[in-house]
Amino acid sequence: MKFADKYESEPAAIIRKSGAAIFLADSLEQQDVLMALGDLKIATTILGPQDREFHHLRNFEFIVADHLIAKELVLFFEEHEADADGISPAVIAVTSNELEDPSILTQEVCNFDGVLKFPMTGTEISARLSVIMHAHCAFAKRYSAAWRELRLNRRIFRSVTAGISVASATLPDLPIVYVNPAFEEMTGYSRAEVQGRNCRFLEGNERSQPALAIVRDALKNRRKGLAVLKNFRKDGTPFWNELSLSPIMDDEGQLTHYVGIQTDVTQRVELESALRESEKLAAVGRLASSIAHEINNPLTSVMNLIYLAQGTDPSQETKDYLVTADRELRRVKLITEQSLRFFRQSTKAQPTTAAELLEPILDLYQSHATNARVTINLRERPSRPIVCMESEIRQVLSNLVGNAIHAMQERGGQLSLRSRETRNHGRGRDGLLFTVADSGTGMSAEILSSIYKAFYTTKGIGGTGLGLWISSEIVARHRGNIRVKSTQSPGSSGTVFEVFLPFDGIAPYREGVDISQFS
Ligand SMILES: Cc1cc2nc3c(=O)[nH]c(=O)nc-3n(C[C@H](O)[C@H](O)[C@H](O)COP(=O)(O)O)c2cc1C
Repeated sequence: MKFADKYESEPAAIIRKSGAAIFLADSLEQQDVLMALGDLKIATTILGPQDREFHHLRNFEFIVADHLIAKELVLFFEEHEADADGISPAVIAVTSNELEDPSILTQEVCNFDGVLKFPMTGTEISARLSVIMHAHCAFAKRYSAAWRELRLNRRIFRSVTAGISVASATLPDLPIVYVNPAFEEMTGYSRAEVQGRNCRFLEGNERSQPALAIVRDALKNRRKGLAVLKNFRKDGTPFWNELSLSPIMDDEGQLTHYVGIQTDVTQRVELESALRESEKLAAVGRLASSIAHEINNPLTSVMNLIYLAQGTDPSQETKDYLVTADRELRRVKLITEQSLRFFRQSTKAQPTTAAELLEPILDLYQSHATNARVTINLRERPSRPIVCMESEIRQVLSNLVGNAIHAMQERGGQLSLRSRETRNHGRGRDGLLFTVADSGTGMSAEILSSIYKAFYTTKGIGGTGLGLWISSEIVARHRGNIRVKSTQSPGSSGTVFEVFLPFDGIAPYREGVDISQFS
């Protein structure tokens, strides 16, 4: 006979906060238990097969059930977290003496809170239930205080903004046994994906970072350690992770776990590196500026001397040498002038619109473009102004426009100059995006990998190789970025530069604060 058929099918009122429930198929046994519970003055509900939705049964304090149901109940309560107080109902299994497998009732197999072995007299049942219930109540009182503390700790783990990870120190290779939601959010990996793995997978191919020595040393000596590691999120984006490691010991002083606290310090690390770079740049700038200054005067003298020498009716051979010397010196002069202009500029950061930046460049390059059969298409979308060093940004755009026209000078072409406001660019910042696109010859991968290097030029004698280097430094100083895409495919060749400048990349100029480091 099926379990369900043994029960009456009346629905029972099972949503209760306390009291006992009886889940028994044998009506005599049911009667005896009901009476015993009555003696103990415990409100009782009789359950039927329709009440096997175990979730509701958690609201009773005691459940007296046939041993098979009792076993299912115990497993269910173990699997599902206990209720708000952390106390599952006491489960009392009922059986008769003719049980085929008596081990079913042992404590090791099933965590029953008590067993009633029928046949029993009414007094025996009352006495036994009374003992079980008092023991359960006493346990529940103490347990619920501990449970509340545990739940508070769990809530703290879950709500802190730093990542928390716990690794087992007793299993091989320190597998993760727990991570909190902040860890999941920071790394993009879910708890299920990281559980059982060593955390080194976050390092990707960056397995020889110097900071790892600190982590290895801390783990080897079972000590605390603090290291900033380059890690990768699940989507492959890198971030700087400040990892604080601590060993956890048990009461006997044995190492059982390590806890790691992870903080995303990417912004701090990038700011520090930008600061170092700008200090370096300032030093280089001062040096370049003084060298350029020193070179400028003798250079002018030598160029004058060449001019004079050319007027003294030299031989054709000497004339040719003098022309070459003059051309080379003009190039040197261009480099010194460009360096001086860049490093000497004492600009003030102030709100500037895209139009203010782009229009003077158009004026400057229009005739040059016409001569090179280049058509310029300008499209500015309305945007808020950006705070920037106006002349520096104009220098960047002017470099890009000059390069674009140069790339098209042999065949002519289209130059598209665009600006638009962009949201959530790069690391979720808002700002202005400039696009300079040409239909020129395009660049090879080899050239692309070197374009931002100082003194690298593809323009031969006419170029200084400083334009894009300076541009990238200026954009970095404004905390923006510059990107390039280029193709040499016949028919669709060309290059697109994108310059992103955040609205607040640089602090606006205030009276009395000199932000020009290079004058
Ligand atoms: C609890 C715990 C958390 C850790 N968290 C990170 C982490 O977030 N990022 C990371 O790169 N390494 C983390 N590690 C360190 C790596 O698991 C590993 O110990 C490190 O890569 C050096 O060991 P290896 O040379 O065996 O890889 C953690 C280690 C432990 C024990």
